Amino acid sequence: MTVSENNNEIDDFTGVETTGHEWDGVKELNNPMPRWWLIIFYVSVIWSIGYWVLMPSWPGLTGYLKGTREHSERENVDVALAAVNAERSVQMKQLLSVSSMTEIERDPQLLEYSMAAGGSLFGDNCATCHGAGGQGFPGYPSLVDDEWIWGGSLDEIRQTLHFGIRSTHPDTRLNIMQAFGRDGLLTREQISDVTEYVLDISGQDSDAEAAARGAPLFAQQCTSCHGVDGRGNQALGAPNLTDGIWLYGGDPSVIRQTIYNGRGGVMPFWTDRLTDEQIVALSVYVHSLGGGE
Ligand code: HEC
Ligand code: HEC
Repeated sequence: MTVSENNNEIDDFTGVETTGHEWDGVKELNNPMPRWWLIIFYVSVIWSIGYWVLMPSWPGLTGYLKGTREHSERENVDVALAAVNAERSVQMKQLLSVSSMTEIERDPQLLEYSMAAGGSLFGDNCATCHGAGGQGFPGYPSLVDDEWIWGGSLDEIRQTLHFGIRSTHPDTRLNIMQAFGRDGLLTREQISDVTEYVLDISGQDSDAEAAARGAPLFAQQCTSCHGVDGRGNQALGAPNLTDGIWLYGGDPSVIRQTIYNGRGGVMPFWTDRLTDEQIVALSVYVHSLGGGE
């Protein structure tokens, strides 16, 4: 066995000194690190010292070493956010002064902005009741069709959103259809007759004799809200009963129930929870969903 000057064994096969470590007869050769590896290692050390000096690095007792460049990602984000908000606030302010749909439609940028903002607000606040696409559910009106209970102009939609319908806001839209059966205003037979009349004017199969008996009852009890011809009245939020679009349903049993018990659906008000600008953006969005007026 040849021995090096450090008193380590020299491997016979390679002629390289071993480290003296041995595991189950396997010995470790004492080869130097490759030069390329060492160069990268030293460059990294030098780089890291430069990095410590220039950039935020070590934690301290009170804060951290900020580095001579005082770089801060957090500040960068703040600056970027402020820029986005400044840009938005211009469009938000513009929205507040808008009075008609045509005005918005003439400004493609503003339209695009309000559609995007309105769409995401709708998903967060309205989709639970009106459906993700505004298609509605029984008792929760579809916002994608041409029928409007309270009106489909930008201003009408805005008013509905601000104050709600039968909500707790003092300026709420309010109109309550009586519970004609429960409150004893009409007998069961009269309710059956007037149901047949509603079936008749909505173009469905009906018992002609009963409908004829129901006609004068309708004229007496119902036209003050639903109009002489049953076409509804947006000022009173009384739905059109002739167009085959139903809020609660057009089956005889559902119509009978509506007349017997009344309904009184509630739409919450948003004036406290959303800003005026958000409400305009939402109104533009809802208006564009279907047949806005
Ligand atoms: C808690 C359920 C609920 C939520 C949430 C809700 N709505 Fe409604 N909404 C209703 C009901 C119920 C009506 C119908 C009230 C009635 O009988 O006239 C209605 C009516 C409306 C109308 C009037 C439709 C017409 O034909 O005139 C509009 C517009 C409307 N909602 C938009 C919205 C928007 C936009 C949001 C989100 C900010 C929203 N709603 C959130 C329940 C809700
Ligand atoms: C005081 C006003 C008023 C009177 C009077 C009134 N209604 Fe209504 N009616 C309403 C309103 C408001 C609604 C909207 C639904 C709600 O209350 O949520 C409605 C809804 C209905 C609906 C449901 C429509 C749908 O789309 O599902 C039917 C059917 C109806 N009324 C029939 C009648 C009949 C028949 C009479 C007479 C016996 C009558 N109403 C009298 C105000 C009135």
